Amino acid sequence: FAFTPANQAWAEAQITKYPEGRQASAIIPLLWRAQEQEGWLTRPAIETVADMLDMAYIRALEVASFYFMFQLQPVGSVAHIQVCGTTSCMICGAEDLVAVCQDKIAKKPHQLSADGKFSWEEVECLGSCANAPMAQIGKDYYEDLTAARMGEIIDELAHGKVPTPGPQNGRYAAEPLSGLT
Ligand code: FES
Repeated sequence: FAFTPANQAWAEAQITKYPEGRQASAIIPLLWRAQEQEGWLTRPAIETVADMLDMAYIRALEVASFYFMFQLQPVGSVAHIQVCGTTSCMICGAEDLVAVCQDKIAKKPHQLSADGKFSWEEVECLGSCANAPMAQIGKDYYEDLTAARMGEIIDELAHGKVPTPGPQNGRYAAEPLSGLT
């Protein structure tokens, strides 16, 4: 693995932001940029980042494996769907969303769909509990989901459309509440 020249320059600039001896603090942005470049974090990518930061590979892997924003195995080329399965979402129907993913994508989390376009996993609370159940796709949150809407979103993505993120039930379509603007 090697960063593209542009990403290499960007990564080196990040490292200079930290005090001497604290360069390892740049690990998250560098891992994130490597993942953006490759789609997921391969072992060579993690090794490259660790070398740049003068860290042991195992320490870099500890960080990469702690956060579920980092993917340690291939993900769908179109979308990797992260369904929140924690309490609020579970009570409000997360299991139904998982069932849709199992039906449309693959039976098991982290498996690629037959066409390689999709993958899914269940993750812990994403901090959008008031809009449960919800899922993260890429950098976007899709909230107030139903099983039917989850299925539509996957179909739209499969056809090259980008579903509008945010609440899927029109929650914010009305006039803003007074006092909030
Ligand atoms: Fe699902 Fe918090 S429980 S976002």
